[in-house]
Amino acid sequence: MGRTKTISVLGSTGSIGTSTLEVIRRNHERFRVVALAAGTNVERLKTQAEEFGARFVSVMSATAAVELKRALGPTVEVGSGPEGLERAATHEEADITVSAIVGAAGLLPTLAAIRAGKDVALANKETLVAAGPLVMEEVRKRGVRLLPVDSEHSAVFQALEGHRREDIKRIILTASGGPFLNLPVAELERVTPEQALRHPNWRMGRRITVDSATLMNKGFEVIEARWLFDVDPAKITVYIHPQSIVHSMVEYIDGSILAQMGSSDMKGPISYALAYPERVDSGARSFSLAGQRLDFMEPEPERFPTLKLAYRALEEGGTYPAVLNAADEVSVKSFLDGRIPFTGIYRTLEEVLSVHTRKDAPAVEDILEADRWARETAEGVVKRYAETKV
Ligand SMILES: NC(=O)c1ccc[n+]([C@@H]2O[C@H](COP(=O)([O-])OP(=O)(O)OC[C@H]3O[C@@H](n4cnc5c(N)ncnc54)[C@H](OP(=O)(O)O)[C@@H]3O)[C@@H](O)[C@H]2O)c1
Repeated sequence: MGRTKTISVLGSTGSIGTSTLEVIRRNHERFRVVALAAGTNVERLKTQAEEFGARFVSVMSATAAVELKRALGPTVEVGSGPEGLERAATHEEADITVSAIVGAAGLLPTLAAIRAGKDVALANKETLVAAGPLVMEEVRKRGVRLLPVDSEHSAVFQALEGHRREDIKRIILTASGGPFLNLPVAELERVTPEQALRHPNWRMGRRITVDSATLMNKGFEVIEARWLFDVDPAKITVYIHPQSIVHSMVEYIDGSILAQMGSSDMKGPISYALAYPERVDSGARSFSLAGQRLDFMEPEPERFPTLKLAYRALEEGGTYPAVLNAADEVSVKSFLDGRIPFTGIYRTLEEVLSVHTRKDAPAVEDILEADRWARETAEGVVKRYAETKV
């Protein structure tokens, strides 16, 4: 058995965060929590801090931090805002930082963790979408491990173990296709947030669930895979696989395809990232392949037009992927708030990308500025939508 690893969890109150803590609870002799950071769910954070004996916790608001400090007592340090998040990400005792907050807000703390020499278990795909080249450069410079938590990237990572990168012919990312896979395309205009949030196979946070229904999530995963595995985007293919049993595959130049399979439970990939290079009991249910069907098909472009935007953003390069992500955060929220129809998500993204002026080889400040610009521009498009009810 390996030595105990000390872990900091950013986004501990979310879907990935709570699954991470379940894995840690089940393997308490292997993993110890030192720091937890969350947004607004102070009650859940307090319970987690008490159960796992965290030394440091952080929340979004300074007022909530004062309350939390009072509740947790003198042995627990409490922080707030971006500084608190960064302190949790770089805690001196942490061996691994789990990056599982949602959105572009994950970029700075994840970069801070890498710069502080921490291995990072990365769920926050936005980090690589917005700033892939810059983040991978830091990973190389600091000699840390960036371990994928996204189930598709964990699958590819596992299928790549012991193989040479130059022998890869294709990476095949699988997508369930979400709740609207079989709906007539003309009806997409009228689907409701409740319908979009009803994912057939996975229980996840709201944004990624809507992104799975549009397939934008898969587009982001294409961008994430491009940087994480250093492969040409032309070598990354997406297949719809409604059963979500094969989590992704690697095809090699000899024609062999290696697939990783398992139940739809994020505890599998989370435990692999935490225990790497070993394996532990993740608590994910084992299931029998007998009687299971495995279907694969190419995504229909009319049903899932967002996918091509990801390839376009990669081709344009520079600040384009960061703009795509930020515009998506705004348009998904606008859809959930009932301001635009489901199909308005794609139209907003398309319009924002079309008016963007690229900045090449962006520094962090340029990415943050592009993110700000994209949010403002997307908000303008959404407002126009709401006014004209297009
Ligand atoms: N869920 C999945 O199965 C899955 C699979 C693959 C990848 N991912 C990726 O993992 C990330 C998290 O997804 P999720 O589904 O777990 O999301 P989620 O359930 O919405 O959880 C988001 C977490 O981030 C925290 N948070 C949000 N904004 C914050 C901020 N500004 N500062 C500090 N904390 C903040 C939230 O805190 P409060 O709740 O306390 O406000 C919560 O703990 C996303 O990047 C997603 O794409 C998720």
